[in-house]
Amino acid sequence: MRIAVAGTGYVGLVSGVCFAEMGHEVICVDTDQEKIRTMKKGISPIYEDGLEEMMRRNYMEGRIDYTTDYAAAYRNAQVIFIGVGTPERPDGSADLSYVTQVARQIAESVESDCLVVIKSTVPVGTNDKVEQYIKDFLKNDVHIEVASNPEFLSQGTAVRDTLKARRIVIGTNSKGAEKLLREIYEPFHLPIVSVTRRSAEIIKYAANDFLALKISYMNEIANLCELVGANVQDVAEGMGYDTRIGKDFLKAGIGYGGSCFPKDTKALDFLARQKGYMLKTVRAAIEVNETQSVRLFEKAQNRLLSFRGLKTAILGLTFKPGTDDLRAAPSLKNIELLLNAGADLYVYDPVGCKGFKQKYSQKKIEKGSITYCDDAEFALRDANICFIFTEWKEIKEIMPEQYGIWMKNALVYDGRNIYSPEDMRKAGVEYYSIGRP
Ligand SMILES: NC(=O)c1ccc[n+]([C@@H]2O[C@H](COP(=O)([O-])OP(=O)(O)OC[C@H]3O[C@@H](n4cnc5c(N)ncnc54)[C@H](O)[C@@H]3O)[C@@H](O)[C@H]2O)c1
Repeated sequence: MRIAVAGTGYVGLVSGVCFAEMGHEVICVDTDQEKIRTMKKGISPIYEDGLEEMMRRNYMEGRIDYTTDYAAAYRNAQVIFIGVGTPERPDGSADLSYVTQVARQIAESVESDCLVVIKSTVPVGTNDKVEQYIKDFLKNDVHIEVASNPEFLSQGTAVRDTLKARRIVIGTNSKGAEKLLREIYEPFHLPIVSVTRRSAEIIKYAANDFLALKISYMNEIANLCELVGANVQDVAEGMGYDTRIGKDFLKAGIGYGGSCFPKDTKALDFLARQKGYMLKTVRAAIEVNETQSVRLFEKAQNRLLSFRGLKTAILGLTFKPGTDDLRAAPSLKNIELLLNAGADLYVYDPVGCKGFKQKYSQKKIEKGSITYCDDAEFALRDANICFIFTEWKEIKEIMPEQYGIWMKNALVYDGRNIYSPEDMRKAGVEYYSIGRP
């Protein structure tokens, strides 16, 4: 099948590469020229395990290419997937300007019948509107249909999640569109759930928001555990064996981040309010997450007289391990608070430093300072205090004793519960984590 993919971010690029891997002929489109140049050299603009190798192989074998020339890419594509961003607007609603831009470009470019598939996470009713919009601006007399095919991959395991997805959701009322999408996914051999466009749109939000709710629920249980002297990890283990609950997403910590859960909870909440309905559970997930993200900072603030001039090691910046994505990472909020309190930060992340540096190069730091470290040891040497924000393997591998050896005062605030409190105590580390005595 001749497939064009609009947007080469985590969703667009990974989907495009996996379609090529399955034998389809793929052209990936992005407005970012630098990204396209990088990809043509076989370099992935995002960090995802296994992606670069697949990009190179499929490019060499002629199944995938990258371009900024959208008109050429869309002109005779049989199927066009839209995988551009749908970020959060200040009022919490989803910003559909990128989707609208692609819809317009498609309308002006297509010269043969084609199916447009929205992979981006979009509010209910968007597929209907995009179809109408494309038809309104169509330049040529061709037949266009729009179908929904929401994406469920997780960053850090995006390639595996796409090749071995738990299910493919297809949202369309058209038999022809369903047939085409089934053909595209046929080589993946995955379960397919075929529903209406509106149901598909809501499935995506309902799934993400349920997971966000699960995380916030465990974080509240963790906070209660701290008050009553229980251990949230033991509680999670005891709960997780119940298959009705499941083991995943029961880890307490400093809350969820990334480009999806924060914006998708707010977008669903916004949609419900627009319809005059209050989604109390989703609101609760949002509120808990907001306070949870700064709990560690508050604990440290209560313990110390001042952060001013303290060498503060920051281990982990990205919102989770396995990705270079910093969007809505809990580390960012904490770093702002620490800088405002005058701390001197020594930051280390195995892949996130580059993006973080770019973000901060445009900001004026009035109080405190930031030093970038190539390894954890450099960040921890003679540090007065340490915060762990991401559970990278490279950070988990630091032995408890090392904190005592490297730091001036072995005072550690762990937002991801990566150590056993007992091991840290034995190693002479004053250790604070989430939901554990
Ligand atoms: N990141 C995830 O884990 C994930 C998972 C499931 C669903 N989603 C959803 O998928 C969508 C994309 O997310 P992402 O994280 O991949 O986004 P992203 O920000 O990483 O990438 C979006 C890309 O689209 C490009 N773009 C913007 N306008 C364009 C245009 N007119 N033509 C071509 N390209 C254009 C941008 O330059 C960028 O490279 C969002 O709706 C998101 O909610 C994301």
